[in-house]
Amino acid sequence: MTILVTGSAGFIGFHTTQKLLQNGEQVIGIDNFNDYYDPSLKEARNKILEQSPNYKLYRGDLTDLSFVQKVLSENKIDKICHLAAQAGVRYSLTNPHAYIQSNLVGFANLIDEAKKNEIKDFIYASSSSVYGNNEKIPFSIEDNVDYPVSLYAATKKSNELIAYSYHHLYNMNCTGLRFFTAYGPYGRPDMAYFSFTKDIIADKTIKIHSHGQMKRDFTYIDDIVVGIIAALKKSYPYEIFNLGNNQIVTLGRFIEVIEQELGISAKKEYLPIQPEEAQITYANIDYSREKLNYHPKTSIEEGIKKFINWYKEYYQIGTQTKNYQQQPIWQKTKQAIIDFQNLAPFWPKIEAEKINQLFLDLLVDLTQDIVTGQKETNSQIMAKIAALESIILIEYDLNQVEKQRLDLMYKNIQEIKNAK
Ligand SMILES: NC(=O)c1ccc[n+]([C@@H]2O[C@H](COP(=O)([O-])OP(=O)(O)OC[C@H]3O[C@@H](n4cnc5c(N)ncnc54)[C@H](O)[C@@H]3O)[C@@H](O)[C@H]2O)c1
Repeated sequence: MTILVTGSAGFIGFHTTQKLLQNGEQVIGIDNFNDYYDPSLKEARNKILEQSPNYKLYRGDLTDLSFVQKVLSENKIDKICHLAAQAGVRYSLTNPHAYIQSNLVGFANLIDEAKKNEIKDFIYASSSSVYGNNEKIPFSIEDNVDYPVSLYAATKKSNELIAYSYHHLYNMNCTGLRFFTAYGPYGRPDMAYFSFTKDIIADKTIKIHSHGQMKRDFTYIDDIVVGIIAALKKSYPYEIFNLGNNQIVTLGRFIEVIEQELGISAKKEYLPIQPEEAQITYANIDYSREKLNYHPKTSIEEGIKKFINWYKEYYQIGTQTKNYQQQPIWQKTKQAIIDFQNLAPFWPKIEAEKINQLFLDLLVDLTQDIVTGQKETNSQIMAKIAALESIILIEYDLNQVEKQRLDLMYKNIQEIKNAK
């Protein structure tokens, strides 16, 4: 099957495309790589997708009708998964036209060309934001959603209406998916959990709206993708589904889990609720369970752990030493020493005393090796570098220094010394 995924370099589009490719499908991707957030993250996602011969990307804008026509005429597409949009609630206050263009003009261009090309199945992203300040919780797809509290939400509700008219008039199968705060690896830097992580690591004060009492139904990306793929398989004539986690968590608790996972306590400034933000989002997913067999299973503790692991790896937080593995041996040694010297002033005091002498001995050894050109076996040098790396890593993990790991490293260094 060939599926057109719009916004394939975006957060949800990337994960969906990856899963479809793993499932053996052909994917045509569309993305304009706009700079709403760091486009290099979009490029990085796209690079991963392009490793598959079954993925073909078109760089272009959905608001450009001739571009949409070209993509659809050049490919035999079975189904459309339309995820490209101008996302984000707050940005719609200052940049309304970005929403009108991508979410209304872009949406209309695509669905109309789908109709002309007789592509019957059209699955598209809606949002929990259509529920606005709905008072009845959890939010059900039967609730009235006529009162959006942001332009972003208004465009998403409009998408659902346009889709209905195309279903009614042209018998297209249209399914709208209301996502509830998706998060996870390769996530969106504009979203709170992402920017909080960045700021906590940089020791910056984080601004927490609604005094941390805002409640969200945070949904892990893999669960969302399962829901999207199920919708793609079904071809229902006209449906709307909530894709949430069905568990609400306060923003305060979510931040607490991030702090725990990072091992750093955040500097916080509490702010009141903003008018464009809903106080709560909470998905009733009974209907999605029934019709899509949708059973989200990732707790925020698990999901955040995966996100933080990815974040540290992607932004090389505490993993700088990895680069050594690509360098020739002598260069590695020198680099390890330079890194250590740069980091030395930031050592945690208690640990520094304990490891200082051993480490300096090791450093002197290595320096002498370099100066005298003495040849040691690779494994000896690698062992020394590993010890240096452990020390450097401990510096990065300053706030979650694990006693065990430190002791192990201490033992390793001693063993190396004894072996000499
Ligand atoms: N992430 C969430 O929590 C969430 C929640 C509710 C709804 N949604 C919706 O899900 C969809 C995917 O969201 P996301 O989080 O992956 O956002 P994202 O911004 O990471 O992905 C959207 C992608 O679409 C591309 N794009 C935007 N406008 C385009 C245009 N005119 N032409 C071509 N490409 C364009 C962007 O470059 C981006 O890569 C969006 O429709 C969004 O509104 C997301």
